[in-house]
Amino acid sequence: MKKLLVTGGAGFIGANFVHYWLNKYQEDKVIVLDALTYAGNMENLHLVQGNDNFTFIKGDICDQALVESLMLEHSIDTIVHFAAESHVDRSITGPDAFIETNILGTYSLLKAAKKCWLDVESGSVEHRFHHVSTDEVYGTLSADDPAFSEETAYAPNSPYSASKAASDHLVRAYHHTYGLNVTTSNCSNNYGPYHFPEKLIPLVITNILHNKELPIYGDGMQIRDWLYVEDHAYGIDLVLNKGRVGENYNIGGNNEWANINIVKEVCKLVESEFAKAPELAARFPEAVAAINANTESLITYVKDRPGHDRRYAIDATKTRDELGYEPQESFETGIAKTVTWYLNNESWWKAVMDGSYQDWVEKQYK
Ligand code: NAD
Ligand code: TYD
Repeated sequence: MKKLLVTGGAGFIGANFVHYWLNKYQEDKVIVLDALTYAGNMENLHLVQGNDNFTFIKGDICDQALVESLMLEHSIDTIVHFAAESHVDRSITGPDAFIETNILGTYSLLKAAKKCWLDVESGSVEHRFHHVSTDEVYGTLSADDPAFSEETAYAPNSPYSASKAASDHLVRAYHHTYGLNVTTSNCSNNYGPYHFPEKLIPLVITNILHNKELPIYGDGMQIRDWLYVEDHAYGIDLVLNKGRVGENYNIGGNNEWANINIVKEVCKLVESEFAKAPELAARFPEAVAAINANTESLITYVKDRPGHDRRYAIDATKTRDELGYEPQESFETGIAKTVTWYLNNESWWKAVMDGSYQDWVEKQYK
């Protein structure tokens, strides 16, 4: 039986991971530590509220004393570290929070883990610090380059990816210098339920429903490798249970799409849902484009993101060969499930789109 401290468990991937874990490992204890920034939402965890093996603590990963007290109180043996500032565009307009949480927060967690597991317990606890990272640390690819492997040199281009790269290096150093049992996974772009609607796929779905423009940065030919979020949780599960300490594992979907094509695909799917279920037109009367089956007319090319990475692609051969990893969800089924989830969960995305988030979005495009 494991006792997990999951940082950032109220965010998109963290919440999906907590659902996955408590469903699969029903004896394990999960303690979520989350500061509930704009991106963290207790609603994301409503399915596990009331589960005796689930505890939620509101707090900051930079608070080392808090982390140490939680580790001791709950006899934590596993940390799964998701907490981060995660949106590239925000890292361009305001990098401070990224340095604070992604670098200093990870450093603070590592210090707490070293103190509780190595200094106080003298290394007697069978422990694991799993760090959740991104393919963005590897930089950008051109069309003909081979996909990123674990051997690809780090070359981060945005304040977000640079802050994640810095945290990856700290995690590595705590293994090599102090013997902390660490693993790191570098995953490609995720999509699925509870994805905050500032990111491409949920932004496009919710904008269609509000009859708003679908902003495409630059020429829209940038490529991302999309993975259904539960397949990320599954990959982390394999790394935790079978991965070798001190190693990095790439997780990806082998599913490259140019942004413009993925946006068109989502337009088609929303239209087909409206065609199948006439009650959607009554529920979303603003979705004029979807109702008139002309959704792509909302596509609007806007100024490019500064320093925009052209292409990401993951080579997950090591994770497949060593851990037996294969994504379980096809893109076709995953994206259809995702569109359906947003159509069925209007109250969730309306709530998270309130207030400060909306002001920020308006400023970007005006
Ligand atoms: P998210 O922005 O949806 O969630 C981040 C969570 O961390 C939120 O709940 C937020 O409240 C919490 N948090 C932020 N600062 C905190 C702090 N100082 N202390 C405690 N909690 C804090 O992010 P996400 O998309 O779920 O990403 C989770 C992790 O996965 C990140 O580390 C990210 O770099 C990594 N990742 C994301 C993707 C992706 O496609 N979204 C892909 C690969 C890796
Ligand atoms: P995003 O979801 O922000 O993830 P990341 O930058 O981490 O890959 O963006 C995915 C891609 O979509 C990226 O190339 C930027 C592009 N994009 C747009 O073209 N328009 C948008 O409104 C957003 C949010 C992103």
